Amino acid sequence: MVTTKMLSTVFVPATIILLICYLSTWLGKRKHLKIPVLTPSWPLIGNAWQIDVSNCHQVFVGIAKKLGPIFEIKLYGDKAVVLNDYETIRSALVSNGNQVAGRPQMYRTTQAQRNRNSIVWQTFNQKLILLRKEVLKSLRMYGNGLDDLEEKCIPEIVCLLQEVESKNSKPFDPWPMLYDSICNVMLILLLGSRLDTDSEHFKTIKTIAGMFNETFGSGDGQRLDIIPWLKLFKTKDSNRLETALCMRDTFWKEQLIQNMVTDDSVVGQLYQLSKTDTGKKHDITEDTIKECFTNLILAGTDTTATAITCLLLVFLHYPEVQDRMYKEISAVLQTRDLPRLSDRSHTPYTEAVLLELLRYISHVPLAVPHCTISDTNIAGFLVPKDTTIYINLWALHHDETFWENPWKFSPDRFLDNVGKLVPPQHPSRKRYQL
Ligand code: HEM
Repeated sequence: MVTTKMLSTVFVPATIILLICYLSTWLGKRKHLKIPVLTPSWPLIGNAWQIDVSNCHQVFVGIAKKLGPIFEIKLYGDKAVVLNDYETIRSALVSNGNQVAGRPQMYRTTQAQRNRNSIVWQTFNQKLILLRKEVLKSLRMYGNGLDDLEEKCIPEIVCLLQEVESKNSKPFDPWPMLYDSICNVMLILLLGSRLDTDSEHFKTIKTIAGMFNETFGSGDGQRLDIIPWLKLFKTKDSNRLETALCMRDTFWKEQLIQNMVTDDSVVGQLYQLSKTDTGKKHDITEDTIKECFTNLILAGTDTTATAITCLLLVFLHYPEVQDRMYKEISAVLQTRDLPRLSDRSHTPYTEAVLLELLRYISHVPLAVPHCTISDTNIAGFLVPKDTTIYINLWALHHDETFWENPWKFSPDRFLDNVGKLVPPQHPSRKRYQL
């Protein structure tokens, strides 16, 4: 029988505990700041009329000057939160990395179920975790694996240098030869062997990559995600995406490509994984392997070729940087022809140039969109689950309150006063200190 005493021993403390929980949740919610919203937002289109999609990162910098480093925009039916400074970006990617690890569903990435197979566009789940682990392992980007990678790159570098020398100091456009070289390094890593750059297969890869890049680079292709019904009108963007996917599927079935795959390549390793119980359990299929190959060849080739081309441009504008880097590398080379990765510890200035290059050019300005997989607190602001997050790396890399003279190419900001590369956690890696 329930007595008054039993009631008071159980019921009263339980009520007090519930009350405390409720109050702390309520107070916790009240503590969150409200994210500033970009206004005016028009019916149906939201803020689309204010945002030039071909130049989003710079438009966002302008908006951040008025609304602060974090703000919300509405593009047609979808809301997104944009982060523009160190505090908000660090809070999202480091302090709350697990909650901000998702990828939003976009029209462009749901085509051909790409988002269910991709290593870039898939949202955070067990399959993605497995893919990341296996691809990183097979790329051998760490430890002794880097020596392997270096061995594979050297023949391509030698070919590239011969091609440059064959120009006999006459002017030429370096982009095509840099692109081809890097594409072949990626093919060696992904499939196991290179392709002749004059072959039809190589040209097809370049055509497909060009089409995907036009569709996925920040710009017009984005319209398809925010107004998916545009595809009904067979626009240039939707046709391009469809053609790229078709060409890719045909290319993938080519016997020559399938015959190229070696067991130790990324694709070879993924084929082996697909046959294991773990692979089957995580739905690693032929479509997954094809999609990961597409992701990696695009992610690795264009980014790297753009960075190196921009380095040449920097050399034109800052010849003293080129001279200093040349002297440093020549000093470690002595009688050898090529520098090796193991020389890196003796070439801090060169390392600093590369760090400064990535900051200065910021050529993936909005990174890849993220998405919250649960309600999240970003730098004190409550961001609900399933919110798209744009990370404005370009704003971060050129923030005048953060970097001294961000518009100047200055590798020294990454060196200490004896010319050694400062470690990542050192304040100079973030701020320029004289
Ligand atoms: C200068 C060269 C490069 C730059 C600037 C660059 C930049 C980026 C950025 C900004 C992201 C988005 C990260 C995020 O989601 O927050 C990314 C993702 C990615 N990149 Fe790169 N990247 C470069 C080279 C490469 C190379 C060489 C590869 C392949 C060998 C590669 C493969 C990937 C992959 C697979 C992802 C998706 C990662 C994931 O979601 O887990 N990237 N990259």
